[in-house]
Amino acid sequence: MVKTCSLEDIDINYRQMYVDLNNKNEEFETILATLKGKDELSTKNLVSIDDLTIEDIKLIFRIAWPFKAEFIERDMKKIPLLKGKTVINFFFETSTRTKLSFELAGKHLSADMVNLSGSGSSMSKKGETLNDTVRTLNAMHADMMILRHSQAGTPMMIADHLTGPVISAGDGWHEHPTQGLLDAFTICENLKTCKGRTVCIVGDILHSRVAGSLIRILKKMNATVRLCGPPTMIPKYADEVFGVEVFDDIEKGIKDVDVIYSLRVQTERAAAGFIPTIREYSKNYGINLDRINLAKDNVIIMHPGPVIRGTDLGNGVMEHPRCVVEDQVTNGFCIRMALLYLMVKGNPGCWKDHQGKSDEKIKLAKKKIEKKLKEVSR
Ligand code: MLT
Repeated sequence: MVKTCSLEDIDINYRQMYVDLNNKNEEFETILATLKGKDELSTKNLVSIDDLTIEDIKLIFRIAWPFKAEFIERDMKKIPLLKGKTVINFFFETSTRTKLSFELAGKHLSADMVNLSGSGSSMSKKGETLNDTVRTLNAMHADMMILRHSQAGTPMMIADHLTGPVISAGDGWHEHPTQGLLDAFTICENLKTCKGRTVCIVGDILHSRVAGSLIRILKKMNATVRLCGPPTMIPKYADEVFGVEVFDDIEKGIKDVDVIYSLRVQTERAAAGFIPTIREYSKNYGINLDRINLAKDNVIIMHPGPVIRGTDLGNGVMEHPRCVVEDQVTNGFCIRMALLYLMVKGNPGCWKDHQGKSDEKIKLAKKKIEKKLKEVSR
């Protein structure tokens, strides 16, 4: 018996279709293909939540749901959906959750997952540029690249050099789009929908790419967003630019909210210089059991991980029945399987367009060279 899906952001007809197909014992691959239908993502790359339309988000959720409802609980978790495809997991910064989650997602779909780190590539000691490294990987016919980098904008820059799609696994302070998707999915799963929910993001918003994607996706899905943290850690004019409410008092910020979303202080990005001490920060912005009582009764508590216990979350918060941090991890894995399926396999339209554009570029470049050669030989 499959779990019933209460995500209102997945159309009721699709939810019913999924239950019917399951009751008929259809193959998992057939269920995914039927739920997808002729729909495709409108984007070839995912480097920002801005790449996605609301229809794209609904399609991703619709495909992620069967993975959550059934697939991850199976004994045998390998299906041949991406057999013969190569996905490169290129990480320039440390990662536990995101890297493993992409790797396992790809492996369960039978893709060949190749891991490469910045320090293990020819860039670190031999001086090859990132563009040239990426061109080399493209010449090996990689079907997709997942990239994490400490510089904002890097995934966008390399997307031009790859024939296949690029997914950003986090770039500097900018965005972490798959985290935004898994967070929105987790809110919908627990509270049925993001629409009309009030979410308070607490902590180091300024340096957080998680906040960058979360604010964007929540606004797209019509949630009310509050930012709460030390004034030095809230981007200037955030209220005007993002259409959010800004608080520096935690008790006011989390009063009556549906979701408390705590962030880690990004010490590796020199964030400790923006607050007097970590102790003082924790006293003013740490989430503890008393503070949780200020929010709505069915509030959920979220955090992207890694959680710094005693600073971001106080004693007992991770064990609170409404804390969904581990659900976020599980959902991340399901969202990433859905994305790999949709972007590597299910998006032939975008691929053709992109290939067409690349071919056009090559033709133009060849024409220019021929013209130059003619001029030189005259
Ligand atoms: C990130 O990579 O940004 C993480 O998922 C969140 C963090 O490091 O605090």
